[in-house]
Amino acid sequence: MVIFKTARELREYLGMQDGKKSTIGFIPTMGALHAGHISLIERAKKQNFLTVCSIFLNPTQFNDVTDFEQYPVSTDNDIELLLKSECDVLFLPSINEIYPEGPQHTKTYDFGYLDTILEGANRPGHFKGVGQVVGRLFEIVNPDTLFLGQKDFQQCMVITRLKEMLGVDQLKIDICPTLREADGLAMSSRNRRLTEPQRTIAAVIYQCLVSIQAKQDSASFAIVKKECFELLNNKGFTTEYVALADARTLELMDEYDRTRPMVTLIAAKIGDIRLIDNLMIN
Ligand code: PAF
Repeated sequence: MVIFKTARELREYLGMQDGKKSTIGFIPTMGALHAGHISLIERAKKQNFLTVCSIFLNPTQFNDVTDFEQYPVSTDNDIELLLKSECDVLFLPSINEIYPEGPQHTKTYDFGYLDTILEGANRPGHFKGVGQVVGRLFEIVNPDTLFLGQKDFQQCMVITRLKEMLGVDQLKIDICPTLREADGLAMSSRNRRLTEPQRTIAAVIYQCLVSIQAKQDSASFAIVKKECFELLNNKGFTTEYVALADARTLELMDEYDRTRPMVTLIAAKIGDIRLIDNLMIN
């Protein structure tokens, strides 16, 4: 694996690959890699892409400074995992490489409706930061296929919208299944911060998603949603949302409607650790 810290060197290297394994599969990350990230690398490798992973803890997408400061960092271990998975290239830039003019002078994008609901409503400025960094990474890496995890369902939609706004029609976005622990907890870098007792109850989020799915023919969503709020809060979570939405548009739905593809999404905090998860339910 080759590691680049500057955009210029990475661009030069990628430019030299033309004619060989020239299609680039790109996995952007913020580090603290886990099996979910590695599954994206493996998927890219299976498709015979030149596999490029980036690790950049992007400050502009954190609306909460403490969350940024406490975000797990484990670069040495990440490099080990990437070597083991035979990733071809790691881009490990500094903040100046990503934002040479400073973040306030780096282009941002307006995601309209998508930025007003769920993650957008609960984390003001978050998607502005995601759009800013991913736009910049596209510029540097110019990938053929981008591999994203479905765990960040709304982020996948935001990045798909970004692709449309940038007019990069040739770019494919491959949204990959969420990897889960044995008890159903979605793999996430933030899970590392959970204490033993928090970890034990964290799987309740997935249990709620499954119950929302299971009850779609027998109960009203309003009632199931209330049950989920109660269960989560009784277990010690502070629940931000339990939502049902059209999986194509993320239009929020008050009731189940099996004529539409539906996704259910939950965000809840345990202590100061914010967890999100989602499930396609039909
Ligand atoms: O999902 C993430 O890890 C980040 O939001 C991303 C896409 C790497 C942008 O910083």
